[in-house]
Amino acid sequence: MIQQALVSQWSAPANIALIKYWGKKGLQLPANPSLSMTLDKSRTYTRVSLDLGKEKGSWEYTYDHKPRPEFDPKISAFFHRIRPELPFLNEVFIRIDSTNNFPHSSGISSSASFYASLALCLCQLNEEYYNRDPRKIDLLKIASNIARLGSGSASRSILPGFSVWGQSFIPQSTDQHAVDINSNIHPVFRSYRDAILIISSDKKPLSSTAGHKLMNENPYAEIRYKEANNNMLRLYQALQDGNQGEMIVITEHEALSLHGLIMSSTGGTLLVKPETIACIEAIREYRKNSGSKSCFTLDAGPNIHLLYPDNEKEPIQRFIKEKLLAYCENDKWIDDSIGQGPQKASILSEG
Ligand code: PMV
Repeated sequence: MIQQALVSQWSAPANIALIKYWGKKGLQLPANPSLSMTLDKSRTYTRVSLDLGKEKGSWEYTYDHKPRPEFDPKISAFFHRIRPELPFLNEVFIRIDSTNNFPHSSGISSSASFYASLALCLCQLNEEYYNRDPRKIDLLKIASNIARLGSGSASRSILPGFSVWGQSFIPQSTDQHAVDINSNIHPVFRSYRDAILIISSDKKPLSSTAGHKLMNENPYAEIRYKEANNNMLRLYQALQDGNQGEMIVITEHEALSLHGLIMSSTGGTLLVKPETIACIEAIREYRKNSGSKSCFTLDAGPNIHLLYPDNEKEPIQRFIKEKLLAYCENDKWIDDSIGQGPQKASILSEG
């Protein structure tokens, strides 16, 4: 057991799902498999330090060095779930500080990048606390499982490029953690970019926790779970074959289906705005006229993720500036791309 205080720092990127996870079972297990692309720039930076002199088994969270008590209940539930997996948590006081390099409520799910970075810090510290070398464990696999217990989609932010979370026909895929599928992805998809168009940064009227729960009584749930598996089969084939046309059809269908499920759940929540629809129509029109391989997807919110191959960067960014920014809140958009996954950060001062 260690005597001095330990510190760990990781950054983890956000990810965007092409096949959506919507609906859970058991303890944070997905009702259907999902497939996503991990981003590059949009990241959460998390620092975890251990204090051996304070109350054992307790923790404190700050965002950018300031208390944010509204996040405490979710973090508390997370700690309750992971204690059996990471026993060092019962022996120490944990101080967590995180910060995002993308704006709050910008349509990027910050819970995925936050729980991914936090899970990496905690899994590394658990090994070091017991004087074990973290390089000797499968850190990414273990951290993906831990991250899932905070936010399901966080399991995928642990891995670079394309990954799959949830039991499916894909070898090694499991409900417990995400798996790396990059070696099967055709080169045309390996340098895709994601322009995140901020339609609205207002707080969402439906949290993802509440949205997943509503699937338990959604009349279309069973059909959806079957269809998600079919879509996974088709998309995985398209990603292997380099079939961009098929990728576009399935990705857009998945985005619209997610919102169809949200609208058909109790409460009939509408997360899209008129500008979201206007953008979708403009993107489809642009694609028809130009032969572009771009497509849109949506998270559980109004903002658009415009996915496109790197070789279309110039015309697409011109199209964004000339046409799509008119629909964005204060002309806001984020220029991101597929990325290489989490990074271990060097230790900085307490700040
Ligand atoms: O990980 P959660 O519980 O925030 O749910 C994420 C759900 C979606 O972002 C809508 C889809 C997905 O697979 O990322």
